[in-house]
Amino acid sequence: MLLEKTMNYEFADRMAGMTGSVIREMLKSASKPGVISFAGGLPASELFDTEGLRMASAQALENPEIALQYGVTEGVMALREQLALMMWARGALVQAEQLIVTTGALQAISLLGDAILNPGDTVVLERPTFPAATDMARLRQANIRTVGMDKDGLNLDELEAILRRERVKFIYVVPNFGNPSGAMLSLERRLRLLEMAIKYRILILEDDPYGELYFESPPPPSLLALSGQVPGARDYLISISSLSKIVSPGLRIGWMVAPAEILRQAVIIKQGQDAHSSTFAQIVALNYLKSDRLRYRLPTWRRAYKARCETMVEAIKMHLPSQLEFDTPAGGMFLWARWRDGRDSTALLQRALEHDVVFVPGAPFMGGQPDRATLRLSFSSSEPGRILRGIQRLARARMP
Ligand SMILES: Cc1ncc(COP(=O)(O)O)c(C=O)c1O
Repeated sequence: MLLEKTMNYEFADRMAGMTGSVIREMLKSASKPGVISFAGGLPASELFDTEGLRMASAQALENPEIALQYGVTEGVMALREQLALMMWARGALVQAEQLIVTTGALQAISLLGDAILNPGDTVVLERPTFPAATDMARLRQANIRTVGMDKDGLNLDELEAILRRERVKFIYVVPNFGNPSGAMLSLERRLRLLEMAIKYRILILEDDPYGELYFESPPPPSLLALSGQVPGARDYLISISSLSKIVSPGLRIGWMVAPAEILRQAVIIKQGQDAHSSTFAQIVALNYLKSDRLRYRLPTWRRAYKARCETMVEAIKMHLPSQLEFDTPAGGMFLWARWRDGRDSTALLQRALEHDVVFVPGAPFMGGQPDRATLRLSFSSSEPGRILRGIQRLARARMP
């Protein structure tokens, strides 16, 4: 007979505050057929350029000695060159040697956490922010300060008050159509933020996976592009981007532009993590970018998300006219909203599930200061008809 033995595993102290995503657990039931999901931050699968990626993959296999072989940690040089060209097109003067390829933007965030943070260091996050940034800081046992936002992005007076008070290691910002805020940092604030970085000697971690997904006109230049106008700012800037939202998240191709010393440390850590990002995925990405199909595909993504966002906004105006407050995003994949009557979104999620519609309650995005009335509605992965039906269901779920 096997005796059941309860093991008491001893985990690292730093795991103490790490709970994993409670919401992800709740949302498992969202995969049942018929449920309309505004929850995931997924690109629209039907818009992937499957044909372009099929050709890029076939082409990759023509050189198996590269695509199927180990590679260098910094990434395939030809891809780094292609990504540098992409950054030039976005207005940032970047040489291939000034960036490394990472396994998604997520790995870049994690590498920086490892390279830069000691337990007890302070980091500043936006409120609301991308939960992976909060986890990155928590796992390194850093102190987290959060700074509020409005439709023009981060409140810089609030930030400056923190910087005057205490030494901050870095600030993490998503300037374009943030996840979950949908907000866009204004040009004026971008320039002021760069000046503050120099004044207070604080690193800025710019994360820009959504900048290309604008609806009407492009956002202001990235912090990286603008750093050319603010002498000295580039030394304080780390800029991350990704192909996840414009080509495919399955490729896991991100990149990081940073000062040479920071890149060197990141490479040392990456060597021990995954040696390098998938060479196959890198060559596929390289072939795809060289094919120039992305230039023609981007307007398709933008048009589709704009139509989906407009449908969601109209549906809310029709079915939840006085209940939800929000700023309409000018790009990206998310609408961040708040129940005017302070209704608890986590409690509402249970009822919403019964009505076959799901969203993400806002609390996990708030970095320890939850506003339980907030919620994130993602419009990227449902077609307009489903969005309309989903908002109707949400309105029904809210009824007393
Ligand atoms: C702000 C932000 N950064 C990074 C990521 C992850 O990007 P990647 O798929 O490149 O790791 C996401 C995806 O949800 C995101 O919203």
